[in-house]
Amino acid sequence: MAAKVRSKFVCQSCGTSHAQWLGQCSQCKEWNTLVEEVMDRVQEKRGTPESVRSRTPKPIAIDAIPVQDGPRIALNDGELARVLGGGLVPGSITLIGGEPGIGKSTLLLQTALRNPHLKTLYVSGEESEHQVKMRAERLQVASSEWRVASNAPDSPIATSPANCYVLTETNTQNIFKHIEALQPGLVVIDSVQTLHTASLEASPGSVGQVRECTAELMRFAKASDIPFVLIGHITKDGFIAGPKVLEHMVDCVLQFEGDRDHAYRLLRPLKNRFGSTNELGIYEMQGTGLSAVEDPSQVLLGDRRERPSGVAVSATLEGQRPLLIEVQALVSSAVYGTPQRSATGFDLRRMNMLLAVLEKRCGFRLGQKDVFLNLAGGFRVEEPAIDLAVVCAVLSSNADIAIPMDTVFCGEVGLSGEVRPVTRTEQRIAEAAKLGFARIFLPQGTKGIGPVKGIELVQVGQVNEVLGHLFG
Ligand code: TYD
Ligand code: MG
Repeated sequence: MAAKVRSKFVCQSCGTSHAQWLGQCSQCKEWNTLVEEVMDRVQEKRGTPESVRSRTPKPIAIDAIPVQDGPRIALNDGELARVLGGGLVPGSITLIGGEPGIGKSTLLLQTALRNPHLKTLYVSGEESEHQVKMRAERLQVASSEWRVASNAPDSPIATSPANCYVLTETNTQNIFKHIEALQPGLVVIDSVQTLHTASLEASPGSVGQVRECTAELMRFAKASDIPFVLIGHITKDGFIAGPKVLEHMVDCVLQFEGDRDHAYRLLRPLKNRFGSTNELGIYEMQGTGLSAVEDPSQVLLGDRRERPSGVAVSATLEGQRPLLIEVQALVSSAVYGTPQRSATGFDLRRMNMLLAVLEKRCGFRLGQKDVFLNLAGGFRVEEPAIDLAVVCAVLSSNADIAIPMDTVFCGEVGLSGEVRPVTRTEQRIAEAAKLGFARIFLPQGTKGIGPVKGIELVQVGQVNEVLGHLFG
């Protein structure tokens, strides 16, 4: 056991140090702001492996640094590789955040199993070896391919030919020892909230522990060139203390999201030091793990013969990719005094704004109607280009007239009922044409679009004009 490193409790609000934890900072009187931090870096280094300690950085002339748009480590998972900017960067730290049960462990275990060219150490602080193994079974890896690597009780267990080792350990110093011995090409930590370092007394999962452990991992990764992927849990109402404080430390932050009742999962980069954050990975959760969705629009629209009233298809962009999504609306007379308004996958305030525009600018009496809105597939769209489809779905349901099957919408709707231009219209048109739609409504004055074979481009300046086209 390494000698205990001295620690102090620092107020995150005013910076005052305290010798022990207090509920209230004695200086600034703020509550719950004290976090344990390491006091003495020299002692702490004792726990750091030799190879890491021996590397002391020196100043280098910037011209002398070799240009390196990194050798990337290829992955057998197109979605993950693309979201990362083209593969894993050696020595990088990636944090994957998501709600419990969304599929983070599944994603990374299958990455470990399906990339046999990468020797992976899967460090699980949440599940036992057997639980990990059971999951691997479900990911369709034959059990005969698993074996115990050595007889030592605490040594990692290997899968072969999957080339994945499982380690149930939460102490960072011990994890580093195993990494030194195993020399993996990738380390997965499941999850960062279970780690603890001997340098601090705070319990695992506390802000101090999570931050200090990640700092240790950072130093280790940079010195050893081994990429790390950390799993972090977040709660429904956004990031909790844990992963939020890590965001600025790590190289990439990916958010794994989706509706647990639906099969689709989105992998969205929030931060990427090695690539664009405009990417999006789409997966479908199946009985045998997550599979990439190559053609999301096709899947989302299904092959319906006809659409009922209240359904409009929108050409949206998710990251760099165009995505055609079905917007469903239900408008009915309010049974109770106050009409109900609810939206799933779409901002409720924005829906209320659009309803107000319809009421005020287009003369529809929706004030006494219940309005329910839903985006198919459990997707969430924040892009304003979906507005026009929302408006048309609502009016279609209100009038109980179905919108023709072959029609797509894209356009932002402004407060005076005008249809406003959106970005990258060509891509949206191309996607709609590819999927066999015959007509797309676009904002007036969209520049740089020529005629496209097989699809009629209808430019509209006002919401009223669209209604004329649709409902006569
Ligand atoms: P998990 O990876 O354990 O979530 P996290 O690590 O984010 O907490 O995902 C768990 C869910 O995924 C669980 O409810 C079961 C489901 N699942 C499948 O549907 N198919 C599978 O092949 C696997 C492994 C899990
Ligand atoms: Mg998990």
